[in-house]
Amino acid sequence: MSLHITPPQVECKTPLVAIIGSGNVGSALAQRVAEKNLADVVLLDIAAGRPQGIALDLMEARGVERHDRKITGSMDYADIAGADAVVITAGRPRTPGMSRDDLLRVNAEIVSGAARQVIAHAPDAVLIVVTNPLDVMTHLAWKASGLPAQRVIGMAGILDSARFQTFIAMELGVSSVDVSAIVLGGHGDLMVPLPRYSTVNGIPITDLMDAATIERLVERTRNGGAEIVELLQTGGAFYAPASSTYVMLESILLNRSRIVPAAAYLAGQYGLHDLFIGVPVRLSCRGVESILELVLTDQERLALQQSAQSIQKSLSQLAALTS
Ligand code: NAD
Ligand code: LAC
Repeated sequence: MSLHITPPQVECKTPLVAIIGSGNVGSALAQRVAEKNLADVVLLDIAAGRPQGIALDLMEARGVERHDRKITGSMDYADIAGADAVVITAGRPRTPGMSRDDLLRVNAEIVSGAARQVIAHAPDAVLIVVTNPLDVMTHLAWKASGLPAQRVIGMAGILDSARFQTFIAMELGVSSVDVSAIVLGGHGDLMVPLPRYSTVNGIPITDLMDAATIERLVERTRNGGAEIVELLQTGGAFYAPASSTYVMLESILLNRSRIVPAAAYLAGQYGLHDLFIGVPVRLSCRGVESILELVLTDQERLALQQSAQSIQKSLSQLAALTS
């Protein structure tokens, strides 16, 4: 042996993302984060072997994908220590015999439990919530963690907007890259796509399509998650949700100040108080740096209020279920 390569003596700090829940969304997100070289990843799950198996599989692709990010699978929250960002994707799907209320209660316990562990092991992290029902779970994660509201954000707006963007591009036969679309409100049937603020290279789509066509695309966007569930039968979307979460992580970890729609805590903005709902935010290393208040028509404002009421109703329902 003539050559000896000494391992590094000092470990340099690489950004670390912890993903709670290594199911479809969690594992697709881990792949994005590692293969785009953004951060090391810890995948955590309660399903024995799953996070470790996904992590090892992704590690074995490193040479082929040509990156050096480390992916670790774990069932122990101690391993998320030092995480710069934590993403909660843990949750249970609805099973036969389970009501919506049962599901709400089960996921509420899972998300609150995970949020408490985050504050115990990674108190400086920015927390992104993905688990559904999104706006309610983000609220619970904020309450349970005790983190400042600025550091707790729900992912849905980028996904809903990406769907609207896709359907606009498909309808007009143009590149998605040239389409900019925005959807506000809760991640549910009452979400609020904003055609007036959606453009193709600066041209409002209201100048490019008639009202009936736009309404059809708006409806397809509102139904975007259900359309995928209907096709897959055994679960929901995960590639676009993972890509959308990645955008948030990148803006936070690289301090990019991207302006994206995300569920943020409102304290009077848009006339709404004490709830998380999708609005345009500026995302920096501190989390939600600021909330942008778009000028809305009366109709758009009313739609946002109705969406907010439905989130408030779910929050009260959950409070009644758990009291
Ligand atoms: P999945 O069933 O594939 O994965 C969920 C994972 O969570 C499983 O691996 C499960 O073992 C794990 N888990 C359950 N309880 C846990 C706990 N206490 N601690 C740690 N891990 C736990 O589901 P998925 O397709 O990855 O979706 C995850 C969640 O994200 C669902 O609630 C889904 O509805 C939601 N989702 C939200 C959006 C959005 O836009 N916000 C988009 C897609 C999916
Ligand atoms: C979505 C889900 C599952 O695909 O929230 O929109």
